[in-house]
Amino acid sequence: MADKITAVKGMNDLLPDVTAQWRTIEESARDTLTHFGFGEVRTPVLEKTALFVRGVGEATDIVGKEMYTFEDGKAEGRAGTLVSLRPEGTAPAVRAAIEHNQLAQGALVRWFYLGPMFRRERQQRGRYRQFFQVGAEIYGAATPQADAELIDAAHAFLSRLDLGELTLEINSLGDANCRPRYVEALIAALKSHAADLCAECQRRLETNPLRVLDCKSAQCQAVTQSVPTIDGFLCEPCRDHFDRVRSLLDALAIPYVVNPRIVRGLDYYTRTVFEFVSRETGEGALGSQSTVCAGGRYDCLIESLGGPATPAVGFAAGLDRLALLAARNAKPAPGPDLFIVPMGESAIAQALQLAAALRRQGIWVDQDLRGGGLKSQMRRADKVGARFVLVLGDSELASGKASLKQMATGEARDVALDPEAIAAAM
Ligand code: HAM
Repeated sequence: MADKITAVKGMNDLLPDVTAQWRTIEESARDTLTHFGFGEVRTPVLEKTALFVRGVGEATDIVGKEMYTFEDGKAEGRAGTLVSLRPEGTAPAVRAAIEHNQLAQGALVRWFYLGPMFRRERQQRGRYRQFFQVGAEIYGAATPQADAELIDAAHAFLSRLDLGELTLEINSLGDANCRPRYVEALIAALKSHAADLCAECQRRLETNPLRVLDCKSAQCQAVTQSVPTIDGFLCEPCRDHFDRVRSLLDALAIPYVVNPRIVRGLDYYTRTVFEFVSRETGEGALGSQSTVCAGGRYDCLIESLGGPATPAVGFAAGLDRLALLAARNAKPAPGPDLFIVPMGESAIAQALQLAAALRRQGIWVDQDLRGGGLKSQMRRADKVGARFVLVLGDSELASGKASLKQMATGEARDVALDPEAIAAAM
């Protein structure tokens, strides 16, 4: 036998036993977001690397170490263009909105997207190198009510799924006016404990000090417990905005906790940031990769990518993580409505015709395409969980009638060999 070629590490195959669950999640997302007025965009999986360097931030782990990047169109004597598999959807959606002139003065745009993202992260449960996000973005509204409605959309979507307990954590990261003062204070506090930080955070102290607050290592967490948090540094407009977002969430009866240590792993955020975190423990829980949905406001990104100055707010939820949580209580997928068991050549043709006609009426019909005896075909009907079984042999063909058996009750009744009659009897 030839050697097997396996999938790329961290990139998962989704087989039919899980894709049914995935479809339910995707359909809930599409349905919920459509009711909030979001239109779907589909952007390419491959973008110019510069989009993420400028959009997500060169000092982030995502851009610094996790992108799949290659030189496209390189030829002798000519450099190619550096392109990357998208690690997230916000910068690509903004690029498309700018490129297609969707952000004219005064525009209000609501977009959502669904698709694969790529980050070369260390693989573990709930963290993969190809993963899927559903994301939603609002362009053109600076108001706290836009933040509240966006969080409401995420909350409404997540609430439709059976995910167990989720906590919404929110914070404000301030803006260009007040954040620098906080970062200065943070650096000063961290520097006095620099030797106690992990090697990675000693580097982050120089490149991206806010990220030190997000480090999972025990030694860094011990240090960050005592450093100042941003809430004491917000300027008045940022504080007012955050207060208003909170009171609107209260008005929507969406529970949340303020966590002044949320910093997020992408550099474009201003003011509101939030995360929905799974609190489930035990079998099937997500462990350390427990953030299922996250986002925030990014009022400067559009302008920094060459568009008109436009405020924006958005979120993205990780479908892989939602699917893992939903799988814990998933009911077994239903089987076919009808299983036809043909015995003999003429019955095979009749079974195919009946199946084709019934499927056109929206009925799920299955058969054992391998053929075989009555017993083995009945075993198959049982195994696939068929609701009804119809056995077709020479005598049934001759009389134009067959017995339709309901598998759950064992009850059988004669039906005419006619698609309408069979459909009516089920
Ligand atoms: P993010 O926090 O990097 O934000 O990702 C959002 C969600 O995607 C995470 O909470 C997680 O559920 C999922 N996710 C991220 N990385 C992985 C991975 N390696 N494996 C599995 N799931 C993962 C963003 O991407 C922003 N673009 C969100 C946003 C939209 N902000 C504003 N608009």
